[in-house]
Amino acid sequence: MLNVALPKGRLGEKVYAMFANAGFECPSLLENSRKLIFENAEAGVRYFWVKPSDVAIYVERGAADIGVAGKDILLEYRPDVYELLDLNIGKCRMAVAAPAGFHDNPERTLRVATKFSRIARDYYTSLGRDIDIIHLNGSIEIAPILGLSDVIVDIVETGTTLKENNLSVIETIVPISARLIANKSGFKFKTEAIEKLTASLKKETEGQEK
Ligand code: PRP
Repeated sequence: MLNVALPKGRLGEKVYAMFANAGFECPSLLENSRKLIFENAEAGVRYFWVKPSDVAIYVERGAADIGVAGKDILLEYRPDVYELLDLNIGKCRMAVAAPAGFHDNPERTLRVATKFSRIARDYYTSLGRDIDIIHLNGSIEIAPILGLSDVIVDIVETGTTLKENNLSVIETIVPISARLIANKSGFKFKTEAIEKLTASLKKETEGQEK
């Protein structure tokens, strides 16, 4: 039985559709909105719906053999897992954004508000820029408006949230997309099933690009 952690929400539904096309169907998953675990013994698969930012924890600790996590989470938490495939969905970017008219003064420590402290720190370290990280858990966009920070480091998808808060991207740090990840020992024991699934998913992602 392959145990799969799916990110709850719109992205997870897309991911499930890809897995179903790859031969891992589990029709009951679409019927019940409250249950969190679904199994199709015949197809040899068990799905769990988990919070997107928790998928990597389930996989790293072996509660799930495989899962789908955003590259943002993998860069921020560096879980000890295999990254098997870029699914080419859930595409967005990690970016630095600032209010209109922002000018960086290199003589002052830059105040950066973010949920992604490690990504922000790594980025500014690579530039040799001194920063002060203000770690927040959400609504990051209001930090520069209220003078809590100079800039933010956050995920930008359509850009609507930035625009509605009078912010704009000043630097893109890294492109983000959903990745198929596997537990390291689970991969050893279930290599054949996981590789077969990975190959089928790969074909689908190539189909999507066309
Ligand atoms: C992310 C991010 C932005 C928004 C960007 O939040 O933190 O607020 O999406 O999307 P846009 O460019 O399409 O406007 P998310 O919706 O993932 O919720 P979160 O705050 O819980 O992370």
